[in-house]
Amino acid sequence: MSQFIAWSDEISVGIQEIDEQHKQLVNLLNSLFDAMVNNAEDRAQVTRKILAELFRYTSVHFAVEESLFRIFNYPDYENHKKNHDKLKAQVREIYLQVQSGEKRIDSKLLVFLRNWLTSHIMEEDKAYAGFLINQGVKKSWVKKSWLGKLLG
Ligand SMILES: [Fe+2]
Repeated sequence: MSQFIAWSDEISVGIQEIDEQHKQLVNLLNSLFDAMVNNAEDRAQVTRKILAELFRYTSVHFAVEESLFRIFNYPDYENHKKNHDKLKAQVREIYLQVQSGEKRIDSKLLVFLRNWLTSHIMEEDKAYAGFLINQGVKKSWVKKSWLGKLLG
């Protein structure tokens, strides 16, 4: 898989479980990049499948973060949730536009999605990580079954 987005400490929030979920999102964007550059015959189909999975997994991941915020009474919950809703709507819109043929996956769209993911992690997610760790969330928390390939 390409390193269109390379995992680095810069995008780590320091809680392993969250990092593993973010890595899955990174993998999906790298797969999308591969689908674009490989320009395979089934590219349209592959692209739609990845975007559908990106929307699905983003929704799951945001729900996990939001439940941690509620459990630990994160003071910025409302704001963060609003951002999640906006980010989800953006990726859903892209999926629908690609699905209908209105939009094609190109480098401009990929750069938008890279920024969509990394700026949220580096700005908003890093802000909650320190709070959660202070509240007792363990950095080493991870559910191993999350790991592995998302796309069969
Ligand atoms: Fe988030």
